[in-house]
Amino acid sequence: MAVAEIGIIGGSGLYKMEALKEVEELEVKTPFGSPSDAIILGNLDGIKVAFLARHGRNHTMLPSELPFRANIYAMKQLGVKYLISASAVGSLQAEVKPLDMVVPDQFIDRTKNRISTFFGEGIVAHIAFGDPICQNLAAVLTDVIADLNLSDVTLHRDGTYVCMEGPAFSTKAESNLYRSWGAKIIGMTNLPEAKLAREAEIAYATLALVTDYDCWHPDHDSVTVEMVIGNLQRNGVNAQKVIQETVKRLSKNPPSSDAHSALQYAILTNLANAP
Ligand code: ADE
Repeated sequence: MAVAEIGIIGGSGLYKMEALKEVEELEVKTPFGSPSDAIILGNLDGIKVAFLARHGRNHTMLPSELPFRANIYAMKQLGVKYLISASAVGSLQAEVKPLDMVVPDQFIDRTKNRISTFFGEGIVAHIAFGDPICQNLAAVLTDVIADLNLSDVTLHRDGTYVCMEGPAFSTKAESNLYRSWGAKIIGMTNLPEAKLAREAEIAYATLALVTDYDCWHPDHDSVTVEMVIGNLQRNGVNAQKVIQETVKRLSKNPPSSDAHSALQYAILTNLANAP
């Protein structure tokens, strides 16, 4: 039986969920090592959820150092079917302002140093990834954000998230290049998570919390850590409201997801004859 069907990964500034009750800490072991931190299991309005602080609760891991495979494997082991990833991002477009929320529908991969698959070593599989976000899960998130009508928050229902390696932020030339590609936001973590979640047949969606204008905007200072954390503290409460209501709706009406059968036609290796 599943321990929790809904998982939450909290990024920079979202290290715990205040509304979680009856909290239990699970030290999960996986074939890929330990996750970023203990998984926090708790009740949100009576619904079991599994929460993980992506960078550890004291923020001790760089994006390139994150144990992405262990994080997603641990969620799968607990029975998670829907994974909400709350993440700080920079804005690449003028109309997307700090404190806004974006639910992206596409990614561009600019990472260089990440292992983004569970396959290999004798087992070959290629998952479909044309639509990297579960659109039915994303629709629940966007409906919630629209319905909550949070002051100072504009909702952007789609957009492309550039996933860069980091840890240094982008140069202006890079930032402008991504803008010329039509990308809307930039972050350092969500693409490997989305790929691994799809391979694990978990529906995945990103709740992107805009903290800055990266470094391209002539009228705004270039992004700093202080800016990211300051703005996240300002809208962390809103993010938690969105997650809480999304969890309620998911539990009442769990949406179907193509992700739940992602491996059906993905595996090329003849497992029947595998040693
Ligand atoms: N996270 C928050 N702001 C960011 C930015 N401008 N670039 C990359 N990751 C970010």
